[in-house]
Amino acid sequence: MNPALSDLARRTGPPPISWLMATALARPGLVSLAAGFTDSETLPAGDMRQLLDGLLRPPGSSRAALQYGTTAGDPELRRLTAERLLASDGSKAAASCSPERVLISNGSQQMLYMLSEALCNPGDIVLVEDPTYFVYLGIVESHGLRARGVRLEKDGLDLKHLEQVLEQLKRAGELPRVKLLYLVSYFQNPTGATTSFEKKCAALDLLKRYERAAGHPLYLVEDAAYRELRFQGDDVNSALAAPGGSRRVALLGTYSKPFATGARVGFGVLPEPLHTAVVRIKGNHDFGTSNLLQQVLARALHSGRYARHVEFLRKRYSRKAGVMLAGMRRHFPEAAQWEMPQGGLYFWVRLPRSVKSGLRSRLFRQALEKNVLYVPGQLCYAKDPKRPKPNHEMRLSFGAASEGDIRKGLERLGAALAKGR
Ligand SMILES: Cc1ncc(COP(=O)(O)O)c(C=O)c1O
Repeated sequence: MNPALSDLARRTGPPPISWLMATALARPGLVSLAAGFTDSETLPAGDMRQLLDGLLRPPGSSRAALQYGTTAGDPELRRLTAERLLASDGSKAAASCSPERVLISNGSQQMLYMLSEALCNPGDIVLVEDPTYFVYLGIVESHGLRARGVRLEKDGLDLKHLEQVLEQLKRAGELPRVKLLYLVSYFQNPTGATTSFEKKCAALDLLKRYERAAGHPLYLVEDAAYRELRFQGDDVNSALAAPGGSRRVALLGTYSKPFATGARVGFGVLPEPLHTAVVRIKGNHDFGTSNLLQQVLARALHSGRYARHVEFLRKRYSRKAGVMLAGMRRHFPEAAQWEMPQGGLYFWVRLPRSVKSGLRSRLFRQALEKNVLYVPGQLCYAKDPKRPKPNHEMRLSFGAASEGDIRKGLERLGAALAKGR
């Protein structure tokens, strides 16, 4: 490695998914059930064209949109974002849902990165779901952080395990290194699990109990990237509505998954001192997310186009999830297990422990030979000295693939499962 590179650059490896994406592109006949992309056919090209036209035609609004904005984001988009959250989370979240707390970012991904910069030093510990969003694990590695996994149950975090982990860290004198608990709370990437509101409240309580030993606040970073893509059941309140949530919860959301992934507009709702810290950091990153795109998004929200599009997406993903479910029932062996997600883009499939699913497994090779790709579950686990990474699961996405490709892909995967063991 070139000695000119910084420690951070040396720690930053290629994203595990880059190889999967390159493989998908290099094989035109391949069906990728791996990509976490949204459905390209649903992207709101017509809405965008009209919104841009409405914004850019009048000289006043076009000049304002084409100029730099403020680092924290377009005031109207911040106001509309706070208003939407208040409508979802109710009056208990009123202290958090103010425009002043909202900060607009380049997708929620940038917010996740900046929050890590604002809270963590190399060697610090973050608590994550086991398994978790693998791109976050890239941030963890790159910043020289350590991740400790907390097991998941059907309704989210295993609270007993969270307490055990906190207790172990306390006994080992490591609590002062712990900064945050990261939860992907709605239709989790990768498992599809949703954390109940009761569990969010209990997790916050637990963190609070250990703050004295930590010597500083312990934050709950709630990543609600998929919240709006619900196609079954009722919305669950975010942790902003939990007791103590207004002081200890950093909520991340996005306009990318539910509208236009390419627009890369996301947001955070942050308590102090995180808000000020992250605005300053963002000042150094880029002094503000694209003003033009923020104003388009504000217009999409204001005009009702956004809400209509989300409604349309929900129906679409509901249908595609149904197609995936039917395909798995038809083609997968009985020993394969999964839960039906209530939203989002993913199924998580558990195979018997003897069936390895990792990148070097026979199953993965067989799947590639049959021209179908999945995300090996192993990639979604943090390196954790307390357990080996499980290697018998896979994430399947019904986001990007067409219904026909989902059917085809599952038939191929079923054949690989029959052969690859
Ligand atoms: C759990 C989770 N959080 C955050 C993101 C980032 O999304 P965006 O930056 O488009 O808002 C993703 C994208 O796949 C995700 O799966």
